[in-house]
Amino acid sequence: MADHLDLLLGVVLVASPAFGISPCSFDGRIALFRFCNLTQIPQVLNTTENLLLSFNYISTVTASSFPFLEQLQLLELGTQYTPLMIGKEAFRNLPNLRILDLGQNQINVLHPDAFQGLSNLFELRLFSCGLSNAILRGGYFKNLSSLTRLDLSFNQIHSLYLHSSFRELNSLKSIDFALNKIFTICEDELKPLQGKMFSLFNLKANNLYSRVSVDWEKCKNPFRNMQLDTLDVSGNGWTVAITENFSNAIWGSQISSLILAHHTMGSDFGFRNIKDPDQNTFAGLNRSSVIQLDLSHGFIFSLNSEVFKMLKDLKILNLSYNKINTIADRAFYGLDSLQILNISYNLLGELHNSNFHGLPSIAYIDLQKNHIGIIQKETFIFLKKLQTLDLRDNAITTINFIPSLATIFLGGNKLVTLSDIHFTADFIHLSENRLESLAYLYSLLQIPHLRILILNQNRLSFCNPSLTPSENLSLEQLFLGENMLQLAWETGFCWDVFKGLSHLQILYLNNNYLNFLPPGVFNNLNALRGLSLNSNRLTALSPGILPPNLEILDISRNQLLSPDPSSFVSLSVLDVTHNKFICECELSTFISWLNQTNVTIFGSPTDIYCMYPDSFIGVSLYSISTEDCNEEKVLKSLRFSLFILFTVTLTLLLMTTLIVTKFRGVCFTCYNTTWRLVFKDHAQGSESDTYKYDAYFCFSSKDFEWVQNSFLKHLDTQYSDQNRLNLCFEERDFVPGENHIANIQAAVWSSRKTVCLVSRHFLRDGWCLEAFSYAQSRCLSDLNSVLIMVVVGSLSQFQLMKHQSIRGFVQKHQYLRWPEDLQDIGWFLDKLAQRILKREKAKKDDSHIQLQTITTIS
Ligand SMILES: *[C@@H]1O[C@H](CO)[C@@H](O)[C@H](O)[C@H]1NC(C)=O
Ligand SMILES: *[C@@H]1O[C@H](CO)[C@@H](O)[C@H](O)[C@H]1NC(C)=O
Ligand SMILES: *[C@@H]1O[C@H](CO)[C@@H](O)[C@H](O)[C@H]1NC(C)=O
Ligand SMILES: *[C@@H]1O[C@H](CO)[C@@H](O)[C@H](O)[C@H]1NC(C)=O
Ligand SMILES: *[C@@H]1O[C@H](CO)[C@@H](O)[C@H](O)[C@H]1NC(C)=O
Ligand SMILES: *[C@@H]1O[C@H](CO)[C@@H](O)[C@H](O)[C@H]1NC(C)=O
Ligand SMILES: *[C@@H]1O[C@H](CO)[C@@H](O)[C@H](O)[C@H]1NC(C)=O
Ligand SMILES: *[C@@H]1O[C@H](CO)[C@@H](O)[C@H](O)[C@H]1NC(C)=O
Ligand SMILES: *[C@@H]1O[C@H](CO)[C@@H](O)[C@H](O)[C@H]1NC(C)=O
Ligand SMILES: *[C@@H]1O[C@H](CO)[C@@H](O)[C@H](O)[C@H]1NC(C)=O
Repeated sequence: MADHLDLLLGVVLVASPAFGISPCSFDGRIALFRFCNLTQIPQVLNTTENLLLSFNYISTVTASSFPFLEQLQLLELGTQYTPLMIGKEAFRNLPNLRILDLGQNQINVLHPDAFQGLSNLFELRLFSCGLSNAILRGGYFKNLSSLTRLDLSFNQIHSLYLHSSFRELNSLKSIDFALNKIFTICEDELKPLQGKMFSLFNLKANNLYSRVSVDWEKCKNPFRNMQLDTLDVSGNGWTVAITENFSNAIWGSQISSLILAHHTMGSDFGFRNIKDPDQNTFAGLNRSSVIQLDLSHGFIFSLNSEVFKMLKDLKILNLSYNKINTIADRAFYGLDSLQILNISYNLLGELHNSNFHGLPSIAYIDLQKNHIGIIQKETFIFLKKLQTLDLRDNAITTINFIPSLATIFLGGNKLVTLSDIHFTADFIHLSENRLESLAYLYSLLQIPHLRILILNQNRLSFCNPSLTPSENLSLEQLFLGENMLQLAWETGFCWDVFKGLSHLQILYLNNNYLNFLPPGVFNNLNALRGLSLNSNRLTALSPGILPPNLEILDISRNQLLSPDPSSFVSLSVLDVTHNKFICECELSTFISWLNQTNVTIFGSPTDIYCMYPDSFIGVSLYSISTEDCNEEKVLKSLRFSLFILFTVTLTLLLMTTLIVTKFRGVCFTCYNTTWRLVFKDHAQGSESDTYKYDAYFCFSSKDFEWVQNSFLKHLDTQYSDQNRLNLCFEERDFVPGENHIANIQAAVWSSRKTVCLVSRHFLRDGWCLEAFSYAQSRCLSDLNSVLIMVVVGSLSQFQLMKHQSIRGFVQKHQYLRWPEDLQDIGWFLDKLAQRILKREKAKKDDSHIQLQTITTIS
């Protein structure tokens, strides 16, 4: 349950105070005295387990400072605002202390036997205490037989000469020397640690080996005969030469995880004198069984051939945050065990078929945040064990290189289309791309075994009516937030997009500008448990629209007016915050439902508020009384009838408007068909005159394709039997070899009308303009308007007026514009055909009216 909530609604984790007691006090187990201006150790119960004394003014700790606290496990004494003196056996009254935190103190005096008696001490924190080499040489840690973690970071230690008592610290596993000033470490210094195993040996940020030159012959292997799980030598300014010398020096020592982040290897841009790592750089690690190598945060520009060849055991290689721009052939040869390769945050621009050769075990490649635009088709095909490919935030425009995988991240790329989906996948992440057509959603859903599909932040808004969904798809989670599904659904199509998703459990439709939910859109979602409709524009939920087994519904930030509680019967969690409730009596059922329902209502009561009437704006629904509503019943029912009447009228009006704006094309087709059926042969018989053609269509040859599809196919008899007109156009009817002018003249005179399709190309075509003038001159001589001008595309008045002959025509006559809305085309063509067939007498007024109508619609 919490899981779903987390997913769908985001659980607000109430930050609980660390301990249930007030500051500067104690209960049986915890004594909380941080920031209490203490100068001495306070008296606490002998049952105390945690004593927290940081951020005070305690200056002295001696053997008598603490009462005998047998139960005490944790003592925090860090960050005292005065210099601290710690005397002999200062903590001996705390025999079971496990953790002693003295971090960030200015320790002026530390008795060499200060820590004696702490035989159970597991962790000792001495970071940032101004300690010098003496802390290591003085035997301060002798007899701490349980000491496992020792934190000496951020001190003033210059050399690691260790007291011989370190040899007895058999529990010591983790030792932290980060941020000191240890410029070299040689074999002699760490002798007491030989034969030991460490989980962490931290030497980060010490300028180790980079400040002073090292004579490795003398220095030898500092980690001889040691086994380290993690050796952190990052941030030491290591160049390729230092890394190479170090690798050779520690030859044979076991290091499972070598952290070499924040190095200075690599040429970056332009620094030709600084080398990228090569075959020799890591060669000395050939016997160290390195499993994990972190080379992140550096300047590696080119991955050289066989650079990692010796790292046969390497499983994880992190090259993120470098400047990698080229991958040489055979760069990854030898990495026989590598499973995870991280090259994120680099500068790769293209990937080639050969780039990942030599990685037989690779399962995960992280390439996010590069600039990859081009990927050769077979780049990943050979990687038989590859499961996860992360290509987020690159510049990818096609997916034809994707093999079948479990997990694919492609978010934040430049995908506009998805052709060629030939792969299978379990999880596909495609957020933040530029997909517009729902056709891609339909095809993605059909990917075998797909369980999770993330398509947030695309531009899904276009629906091709011919799409059909498949049945019984495997998808379980679908993320479609931040698209524009409203635009797709308001065309009346794609309402069946979720039809096959019988296994879907979680669906996000937030931020889609939805002002309605298509009837039946969730009909087959019998497995759906969580639905987010957050941040849409829904005003109502029609009964039965929600899937039957829905448990969690987020419909916050919509415009719900007065929801019907019966819609929510199956729910266990509901978020209705930030809606625009109308607090009138109609809402009283919902208000009393809210007050007594078992459904967990998410969010604070103050976020469920009225938006109307004005006197109630912002008032929580929980603080509204519904008592008066019952007395008003009669009045209410009258008001209700009026309301219904008003609603019905308004709905009818809206429907009419909707039909006119959205479905006028369809209506026109119906009307037209009926007309034809009734007056079937009327049109044909009505005319016969001397013209060879009904109309000469004059257009630029560059527009031919479009004209053919938009006009000729729908009007000319040769294209279809249903067409009525006998048209003339250059591509078909002009006599070859004849003078072009003569052809044009013949066409104009042998056609009843001349239709000029004025487009951008038309205006640039001399012949077209010539034909226009010629047709216009025939108008003058005939005293009737044979010329019909159709403007195509977004030509401005100004662009038309630039041409003299057109200017003359436009000033005196109306012209037509090709409709922008597809559904108006049928109507437009019909009008045009009527115009062409109309015989012009002297009845100018009539034609004027007709044209008026045509132009206003466009
Ligand atoms: C500690 O002393 C400061 C300054 O004198 C005072 O502001 C603060 O309230 C004191 N804190 C406690 C817990 O007494
Ligand atoms: C704690 O002190 C009380 C007396 O105050 C004593 O009776 C009890 O035995 C002590 N408990 C431990 C665990 O020392
Ligand atoms: C270490 O502790 C043992 C008893 O556990 C004791 O005999 C020995 O004297 C201690 N050594 C030092 C140096 O304190
Ligand atoms: C690396 O070792 C070689 C040979 O011992 C030495 O000449 C060179 O100076 C060393 N380089 C660095 C940076 O320590
Ligand atoms: C490992 O490297 C050393 C030199 O660094 C070389 O002598 C040795 O032959 C190498 N061993 C293998 C197995 O490659
Ligand atoms: C390097 O990558 C590994 C795994 O790919 C990851 O666990 C680690 O956090 C990364 N390190 C850095 C500094 O990003
Ligand atoms: C790769 O490294 C980046 C940056 O350090 C990190 O955010 C990412 O999680 C790593 N990828 C993997 C798979 O560990
Ligand atoms: C639906 O698909 C599942 C596997 O995803 C299969 O087990 C089940 O039989 C299918 N049901 C129908 C009705 O096809
Ligand atoms: C909510 O229910 C309680 C009883 O469970 C009742 O006293 C209270 O008046 C109700 N509040 C509203 C706003 O209905
Ligand atoms: C709420 O839960 C109680 C028991 O937990 C149950 O008796 C009651 O019928 C439930 N009410 C509704 C409206 O589901």
